[in-house]
Amino acid sequence: MAQKRKLKKGIKKTLIFFRLILLVLFLSGFFYYGLDKYKKHSISNINRDVVKKLDYKVDLSMLVNYEHKIPKDYDLRLRNVEGNKEVATILYNDLNRMITLAKYEDGVELKINSAYRPNNIQKDIFDSYVKDYQKQGYSYSAAVQMTKISVAEPGYSEHETGLAIDFSESGNTVKNTKMWNWLAKNAYKYGFIKRYPNDKTNITKVKYEPWHYRYVGIELAKEIYDSNLTLEEYHEQNKK
Ligand code: DAL
Ligand code: ZN
Repeated sequence: MAQKRKLKKGIKKTLIFFRLILLVLFLSGFFYYGLDKYKKHSISNINRDVVKKLDYKVDLSMLVNYEHKIPKDYDLRLRNVEGNKEVATILYNDLNRMITLAKYEDGVELKINSAYRPNNIQKDIFDSYVKDYQKQGYSYSAAVQMTKISVAEPGYSEHETGLAIDFSESGNTVKNTKMWNWLAKNAYKYGFIKRYPNDKTNITKVKYEPWHYRYVGIELAKEIYDSNLTLEEYHEQNKK
């Protein structure tokens, strides 16, 4: 009899123990799911009001390339990202959302190598490329032509508008490949287009740059992504 009672007590204890485990599992699942939802909600609302508050308009479809200079009346407004880098204020929210969601949802860390470049910095880069080619024996005009394939002339670079970002981490091939693959697939959802694709170098006149993304806004980025156009082709097709 005493043994039976002991057995019953044992079973009861085990049942309570299992119930407790189930409760803990249920609560942690509930907590995790709720937290996840909360995180997603707050990420997708990152600083949505920052740009809205500004009386700030930019022609996001603006074409800046080897033959189109940055317009004199371009309204350059900058915001800091990642410490000492600057981008056009207009893209700040979407960039933040993209960086956060890439990491949070897909474990991809987007690193900014170069963003806004003032005219004098663009000139320094351009001149140093020209000098290097000249050192290799090319004439000045040949050196300039060759440089233009990878560096835009000062006054003609999207980097001077704050609307272009180069994503990469120096010397990290694996991470860069991961980053560029992710961007090629997802950047348009946040308003960025791959500006110098591999199969359109004859149109852009710039060599393939898997790292260079240009902000055009979410609507236009989707249109350009879906139609597989460059910004040059988009402008050609939408000429009035
Ligand atoms: N690398 C691109 C073309 C620039 O210098 O703007
Ligand atoms: Zn670039």
